[in-house]
Amino acid sequence: MIKPYDPSEEGAQMSFDGRMSYGDYLQIDTILNTQKPLSTAHDEMLFIIQHQTSELWMKLAVHELHAARAAMQENRLEPAFKMLARVARIFEQLNNAWDVLRTMTPSEYTQFRETLGQSSGFQSYQYRQIEYILGNRNQSMLKPHAHREDIHAMLKKELDVPSLYDVALQLVHANGVDIPKAILDRDVSKTHVADEGVEAAWATIYKDPDKYWVLYQLAEKLVDFEDYFRRWRFNHVTTVERIIGFKRGTGGTGGVSYLRRMLDVELFPELWHVRTQL
Ligand code: HEM
Repeated sequence: MIKPYDPSEEGAQMSFDGRMSYGDYLQIDTILNTQKPLSTAHDEMLFIIQHQTSELWMKLAVHELHAARAAMQENRLEPAFKMLARVARIFEQLNNAWDVLRTMTPSEYTQFRETLGQSSGFQSYQYRQIEYILGNRNQSMLKPHAHREDIHAMLKKELDVPSLYDVALQLVHANGVDIPKAILDRDVSKTHVADEGVEAAWATIYKDPDKYWVLYQLAEKLVDFEDYFRRWRFNHVTTVERIIGFKRGTGGTGGVSYLRRMLDVELFPELWHVRTQL
């Protein structure tokens, strides 16, 4: 008779009495005890886990973006590039996740949609934080968080410091390609508006990659990231249309009409505009 394989014979740890295990380190019990469907509908579990896992990935995106911005401020560009590449991959991961949610039909979603009340991803403070870090700083989006002093303060704090794009433009200037003074001195709590001088600076860089290699790389890392971010928005609105059609959102907006409007948001506008003149 063949003896069943026992990994402990080659050293696998099997006893965790008083020792930290996988579940202890990762606090798996805590994570797995936070899925609390409010209905008996089978698909509500998918809906909850899809949102929760997205929020976990967003947490990592915030962590990486903060560190990338700090590295850029210290002129440590190689580590910043690595972190920006990772954030793009996080969004790729989030983009692939829509395929799972798309398996839920309108008939299945309507079985529990009412139980959500007025809650909606519109109130995701980490999503808003990511937008604020990047530079999309619509202050109206603070309002849904007024009832949570801690979150409201955290989001306001993001608006007090330069966005990732502001820091990128400072770097461009510091590395010998002029950025208009009005842009360098702008009120960072507001969204940056596309500027011809900034576009001209990116054009200088794109027209001579060898001379401005690091800035050229920075530009492409930012475009790459925004590309993935745009795909997330597109996947979201398409999934939403597939599941709720043109119904209003639980968060109170027009639904698909609102999300389509968000497709026009440009995080790093001049980096897209400059392409026309190359
Ligand atoms: C059945 C699936 C989903 C539907 C029907 C849906 C629907 C909507 C709608 C209609 C909005 C617009 C605001 C409103 O009026 O509610 C919205 C916003 C949003 N949703 Fe979803 N959503 C779904 C899944 C998700 C998932 C899985 C996430 C991941 C976290 C998510 C994140 C967001 C975010 C961040 C916003 C705000 C977007 C912005 O302001 O630009 N949604 N959603």
